[in-house]
Amino acid sequence: MYKKIDLDYSSLEPYIDNETLNIHYNKHYLKYLDNLNKLLNSVDYDYKYSLKELVKNINIIPEDIRGEVLYNAGGVLNHELYFSTLNTRGKKEVSGNFKEAIDKKYGSFNNFMMEFMKSANKLKGSGFTYLVLNNNELDIINLSNQETPYIYDMIPLIALDMWEHAYYLKYQNNKEQYIKNFFSIIDFNKIEDIYDKEIQKNK
Ligand SMILES: [Fe+2]
Repeated sequence: MYKKIDLDYSSLEPYIDNETLNIHYNKHYLKYLDNLNKLLNSVDYDYKYSLKELVKNINIIPEDIRGEVLYNAGGVLNHELYFSTLNTRGKKEVSGNFKEAIDKKYGSFNNFMMEFMKSANKLKGSGFTYLVLNNNELDIINLSNQETPYIYDMIPLIALDMWEHAYYLKYQNNKEQYIKNFFSIIDFNKIEDIYDKEIQKNK
């Protein structure tokens, strides 16, 4: 069975209300995980891959449930990145190698934030806005529903959940403010760790 990740913080107030966070984690994220394990158990999958590797090797899953497995696996991976990189007390500025890469690609951290927010505001329907590593280059992309960048050989570094369940209770139709506030809850320590590890791997 793939195991859940625990939230290592108690609250993201006032940016994300506790009710939204609890429903999001307990009902949405854990449901994707439960669906995924049930589907995989139904075909006696042996859990030999990490979840990221399973997505890249999705052809080992029987065709009739492959789409469902991919959808739920994406749901798990996307939410795990989203939840594990949020913390109101985390680092809010970038530094080190990651800052260099941001400056090189976007000119400045501020420009990067503007580009990221612009992309998130453009997303239609449900999906995620990501900062990804694509052939070791940073890129901002939108994907629909629970698609994961791993299926396109990209590594997500930041995932912003743009499904209405992520913000609607508090923000209603004001998704612009939710997007802006994301930069008050994201922990760049976590993002820089992921970036450094991935860059190291590809050297
Ligand atoms: Fe979500």
